[in-house]
Amino acid sequence: LDNGLVRTPPMGWMSWTKYYCETDCVKYPDACINENLYAAQADRLAEDGYLDVGYEYVHIDDCWMSYNRTFDGQLAANSSRFSHGIPWLANYVHKRGLKFAIYEDYGTKTCGGYPGSLGFLKVDADTFASWGVDYLKLDGCNVNLDQMKYGYPEMERHLNATGRPIVYACSWPAYLIDQQDKVNYTEIGNSCNLWRNFDDISMSWRSIVSIIDWYVKFQDKLAAGQKPGAWNDPDMIIAGNNEISDDQARAQMTIWSIWSAPLIMSNDLRSITPSQKKILQNRDVIAIDQDPLGKFGKMIASTADIQLFVKQVTPLDQLTGEPSYAIAALNRATYPVNVTIEPWRLGLQNPSGYSLKDLWTGQFKGDITSVDARIHFDIVPPTGVAFYKATIL
Ligand code: DGJ
Repeated sequence: LDNGLVRTPPMGWMSWTKYYCETDCVKYPDACINENLYAAQADRLAEDGYLDVGYEYVHIDDCWMSYNRTFDGQLAANSSRFSHGIPWLANYVHKRGLKFAIYEDYGTKTCGGYPGSLGFLKVDADTFASWGVDYLKLDGCNVNLDQMKYGYPEMERHLNATGRPIVYACSWPAYLIDQQDKVNYTEIGNSCNLWRNFDDISMSWRSIVSIIDWYVKFQDKLAAGQKPGAWNDPDMIIAGNNEISDDQARAQMTIWSIWSAPLIMSNDLRSITPSQKKILQNRDVIAIDQDPLGKFGKMIASTADIQLFVKQVTPLDQLTGEPSYAIAALNRATYPVNVTIEPWRLGLQNPSGYSLKDLWTGQFKGDITSVDARIHFDIVPPTGVAFYKATIL
């Protein structure tokens, strides 16, 4: 969507995969959907270095609402869990230099059973703008699928008419997984800044792998539909949770960066381990994700254990326009694997060569300057990655 927003993929923190629809704040005072949760995570984003490396949106997900609209049809937050109201929370977030994101659903009800926007699109767009919302995730439960191609663009028009810059994230194609012939990413990208395509992520390596498999299967179509301001969204980053090892966390961050995916974490920033925090804040990896070309990198070679991914990135050669590359070797096996490959097989053909850097260790790996050079990824760990940048010389 050409509204000038998210020219690089959005980054932030979202509640869903870590906290789901937990509304019992008596039993779970620190892990229920209430204003304290978002305020606390906003504090951590601002104070613990996340904002400095680019994580800026605080995303409310489902289950924030009251079951009833107000007498004049407006949405209202659950008044005991959000006792200060949403504008207060938006302001809390803004005061910390962050941006505020909210959740609604295009249908009659959200997936969690709260009031949906159907019949209230304009009212809700105006309400969100007046509350200081900077980003809307519009889910797609409880609505006739054939209506989506009209309803999602209609909401974009209402958001635009508010005059407030609001990033627009659509779940539209995620509800058409079984009807790929109805999914046209050019059409979707004309109305949405980003879109979910596939199933929800859950807290496991298995879930990460299932998303990678689906994305690889449809990678040509996904790549063609993506450009700055119009992003595929493979769902939240679950790195930072105990269910995921450090190697698996590096793997998810790597492949999501190869795709220029949104980096929206779902974890508890209050109790994250130092090593996972370091992984989430790796500036070299984030720079690949946020590369201005905004390419959707692809899987270009594989064995039973290893998949090699390549993405074109800046800097470009000043004369020829040849790109630099990000190269990832993903090891899906349960044992370590050595990977060696000729650069030309990855598309690296610049005559003066490339300078190699290991983005996870920060180590310089030498220059490759001859056609018969080899790239060695020494020991790719089980369910892990090696991730290099080859900068054009
Ligand atoms: C389905 C979405 O895909 C999830 O990310 C989450 O927003 C839930 N709905 C909320 O009900």
